[in-house]
Amino acid sequence: MEILDYDIVILGSGIAGLTAAIHASNATDKKAKIAIVTKLHAMRSHSVAAEGGISGVLYPEVTNDSLDLHAYDTIKGSDYLADQDAVELLVKNAPKEVEFFDHIGVSWNRNEKAQIEQRAFGGMSIPRTAFAADKTGFFMMRALYDEVVNLENVSIFHENFAYSLLLDENHFVGLSVMDLATGSLRIFHAKAGIIATGGASRMYDFTTTSHSSTGDGQALVYKAGLPLKDMEFVQFHPTALVPNGILITEAARGEGGYLTNSKGERFMALYAKKQMELAPRDIVSRAIITEIRAGRGLREELSGLEYIHLDLRHLGKNVIDEKLPMIREIAQKSLNIDPVEEPLPVRPAAHFTMGGIHTDLYGRVMADEDKTIVDGLWAIGECGCVSVHGSNRLGSNSLSQCAVWGRIAGNEIADYLKKTADAPKLRKEIVNAESLKISAILDKKGSVNPYFIKSELQKTMGEFVYVYRTKNDLFNAKRRISELKKMFNDIYLADKGKLFNTNLRDVLEIDNLLDLAEAVTLCALNRNESRGAHAIAEYPNRDDTNWLKHSIVYKTKEGVGIGYKPVTITRWKPQPRIY
Ligand code: FUM
Repeated sequence: MEILDYDIVILGSGIAGLTAAIHASNATDKKAKIAIVTKLHAMRSHSVAAEGGISGVLYPEVTNDSLDLHAYDTIKGSDYLADQDAVELLVKNAPKEVEFFDHIGVSWNRNEKAQIEQRAFGGMSIPRTAFAADKTGFFMMRALYDEVVNLENVSIFHENFAYSLLLDENHFVGLSVMDLATGSLRIFHAKAGIIATGGASRMYDFTTTSHSSTGDGQALVYKAGLPLKDMEFVQFHPTALVPNGILITEAARGEGGYLTNSKGERFMALYAKKQMELAPRDIVSRAIITEIRAGRGLREELSGLEYIHLDLRHLGKNVIDEKLPMIREIAQKSLNIDPVEEPLPVRPAAHFTMGGIHTDLYGRVMADEDKTIVDGLWAIGECGCVSVHGSNRLGSNSLSQCAVWGRIAGNEIADYLKKTADAPKLRKEIVNAESLKISAILDKKGSVNPYFIKSELQKTMGEFVYVYRTKNDLFNAKRRISELKKMFNDIYLADKGKLFNTNLRDVLEIDNLLDLAEAVTLCALNRNESRGAHAIAEYPNRDDTNWLKHSIVYKTKEGVGIGYKPVTITRWKPQPRIY
C-alpha cells in the first residue's frame, strides 16, 4: 500500500473543503503540504448545485438589518436547538465571507447602486441572501477552484474514495483511500485532517441532492467509534420538482412565487399567516403534506407522487429570466413545463442533513459528549454538526456556514501545525489491516444484489422517516434497516475488476448509508417531542423541559448508544414559534 505524507489532508472538495484549503495555505505562508481528497472531480462536488444564495448582513445602514436580527431569525428558525454561540459566530463572520467571494470573482447580482443584491428567504425577517442568479453554488465553486489550482502547495486527488478514518488512540493519523481510476490503495498519512464531505440525503430516494451525497465522512467517523449529533433532524426542502426531485430554489418564493393546492388556494395562509410561502422549511413542508393528506393535492400519473403547485407566472418572464434562469431551464428541459406559462409540480424532498459529526464551536471533532477533542481532526460544512442550524436550518445559512467554518478550520489547523512537530507514526498493524479491507469486499460471495438493498433503504426512509413521523413508522424503519444490514453481509459484486469499479464504490456508499439511516431512525425514535424538522404524531409539541438538548449517537460493539448534550443558550430564551 502506498503511503503519502502530508501536513494536512482535506476530505471533500465542496465549498467548505476548498475554502479551508485556501485559508490553511494562506495561514501557513503556503508552506503546509496539503492534499484534497475527493471521490468526484472537485468541480462535481454537490456544492455546485446550490442555487438560491448565501446569507449575511451586508448593508445594515441601508436595510436596517443587524447581526442580532440574523442571529434571532436563525435561532427561532432552529426551533431553539441551535447553539447560540455558534450562531453568533456565523452571523458575525458571514458578511466578511460574502466579501471574500466577491474578491475572488463571484459574479453577484447587483442593484442599481452596484451593491450586492439580496433576496428574501424563508424565516429571514429581511432580505439578506446574496445570490448569483440561481447558480450561486456554481459561481462560488468556480471561484474557489480557480484559486486552489493555483496553489502550488495544494494537490487535489480527484476520484479517490476514502474508506477508513485512521486514528491512533485519540489522535488523527490519516485516511485510507482507493484511487477509483486504478483501484490502487493508498494511505494519506497527515498531521491533521479536515472532513468536509457534505450530507447524506441519498438515504432517501426523493431528494434534491446528487447521487454522491452519501454521508461518507459522517459514516467514517461513526464507524471509527466517534459520535454524531442530532441525526434525527433531516431537512425536507418544500419545493422539489415532481417527479425527478430536482431543487426548485426557495428563491422562487423569495422572488414572490405562490404555493397553491388543487383548488388554486394559497394554502400557506392557514399555516403561517404572516410569512406565508416564506415561513421556514419545516413549516412549509408540513403544510404541503397536510394539504396533500387532506385531498387537496394533485397526482403525477407515472410516479404516483402527489404534489402541489408552485406558481411563478405572475412574476413575468423578465424576472424569471434574470433571477431564476436555471430553474426555468430545468423545468423546460426535464418536464417540458415553462414556469412563465404554467405552475410547477413540487413536493418536499430530503435536502440537508442538519445533524452530523459532533464538533465543538471551532469545528474540532469530539470524541464524547463534551469533554474530549480528537487531536488533529476537524469536520466542517454539512457533514459537521457545529449546531448552527439546530432542528431546522434557514435557507442560505448553509453556504455561509461552509465559508465561515472553512476559514475557521483553515486558520485553526495552521495554528495546530505550528505546535505539532510530526504526525503520529503509522503502525504496521494499521497498514496491514487497511490493505485487506477492499479485497475482503471484492471477495464476497453472497447472493444479494446491493442495489436492491439501496433501493429498499431509500423506500423505507421515504415511507417511514419523512416529514411526519409516528412511533410505529419508526419501529418499522428500524426493523427494516436492521434486516437490510443483515442482508448486506450476504451481497455479491458483479464487477470484481480494479479499473474504475463503480460497483465497488457504490457498495462502500451503501454501507455508509445503512449506518447513517439507522442513526437517523434511532435518534428519531428516541426523541419524544416535535421540534423543527422532527414532527412525531405521539408527541406533537416541543418539550423544552425534557428535550432542549442535543442527541449524541455512537456506534459501539454492543450496538448503537444515545447520549445528550445541553444546548448553549446565550441571549435568546426559547419562545413559541409563530410566523
Ligand atoms: O432553495 C435553495 O436555493 C436552497 C438553499 C439552501 O438550502 O440553503
